[in-house]
Amino acid sequence: MKKLALITGASSGLGYEFAKLCAQESYEPILVARRKERLDSLKQEIERDFSVACHVIPLDLLASDCGETLFTACKQIEGSLEIVINNAGFGEFGDYGSTDGEKEANSIKVNVLALTSITKSLLPLLKENNSGYICNVASTAAFQPLPRFSVYGATKAYVLSYSQAIGAELEEFNIKVSCLCPGPTDTEFFSSNNMEDSTIANRKLPTSSEVAEYGYRAMKKGKPVAIHGSFNWLMAVSGKFAPQRLVVQLAKKMMTS
Ligand SMILES: NC(=O)c1ccc[n+]([C@@H]2O[C@H](COP(=O)([O-])OP(=O)(O)OC[C@H]3O[C@@H](n4cnc5c(N)ncnc54)[C@H](OP(=O)(O)O)[C@@H]3O)[C@@H](O)[C@H]2O)c1
Repeated sequence: MKKLALITGASSGLGYEFAKLCAQESYEPILVARRKERLDSLKQEIERDFSVACHVIPLDLLASDCGETLFTACKQIEGSLEIVINNAGFGEFGDYGSTDGEKEANSIKVNVLALTSITKSLLPLLKENNSGYICNVASTAAFQPLPRFSVYGATKAYVLSYSQAIGAELEEFNIKVSCLCPGPTDTEFFSSNNMEDSTIANRKLPTSSEVAEYGYRAMKKGKPVAIHGSFNWLMAVSGKFAPQRLVVQLAKKMMTS
C-alpha cells in the first residue's frame, strides 16, 4: 500500500524541506500551497531524486472549506494517508496601531482556522490505519505574548495548546501529534512579513533544512512539543517561571530592536 504525506505551505521554506524528508522515507508527498509553479517544480525534483510519485494541490487556505477540499482530494489519490504536516503560516509585524488588519485577520484564518479544519477533515483518513503522524508548526512565539507581532504570537499559542490537547486524545488511536516550535529560521518568512529590517532577521539563523529535519524526527518520535535549539528551549522554559510582566517587557525589547 502506498503511503501518503500531506504538507501545507510546501512551496517554500520549512514545507519545501518537509516534503523532501517525507519522500526520502518513501512517502508520496501531497504538496499544498498557492504558488502552483513552485509546487510543480518541487514535484519534478522529488520524482527525479527519490523515485516516488508526488501530488500537487494548488489551494488558498483562506478558503473556509479547505479541509473538505483536501479530504476529497486525498480520497482520490491511491494510498493511505499517514502524515499530515500543517506548516503553512504567516503574520503581520509592526506597531499594532499601524499594522494591516486584513492581513492579521487572514493570518488567523490560515494559522488557526485552516490548520484546525484540515486536521478535523483528515483525521478519519488517519484513523482508518489506526496509526499516523500530525505535525503542527507553531513557533517559539507561542510561549509568551509578543509585542509588535501580537496576532501572530496569539495564533501560535493556539496551535501549541490545541496540538497538545488533541495529542492526548489521539494516543488511543496510535496517532502521534507533535507541535514544532522553531525559533527564527532562514526562510522567506521575514520578507513575507515585513521583517527584513529587524535585528532578528539579520542574525545568523538556522537553515530551513536543519529545522525541518529536527521537526520531522521529533514528529516520528511522537514528541508532543519540539523546540528547535537549546537557546530557544531555555527561553521558552524560563519564561514559564518568570513574572509574566517581566517576560512581556523583555519580549517587547527584543521585538523593538
Ligand atoms: N521562519 C521562521 O523564522 C519561523 C519561525 C517560527 C515559526 N515559523 C513557522 O513556520 C511555518 C513555515 O514558515 P516558513 O518559515 O517556511 O515561511 P515561508 O517560506 O514564508 O513559507 C510559508 C508557506 O506558507 C504558505 N502559505 C501562506 N499563506 C497561504 C495561504 N493563504 N494558502 C496556502 N498556503 C499559504 C506559502 O505558500 P504560498 O505563498 O505559495 O501559498 C509558503 O509555502 C509557518 O507556520 C511559520 O509561522 C517560521
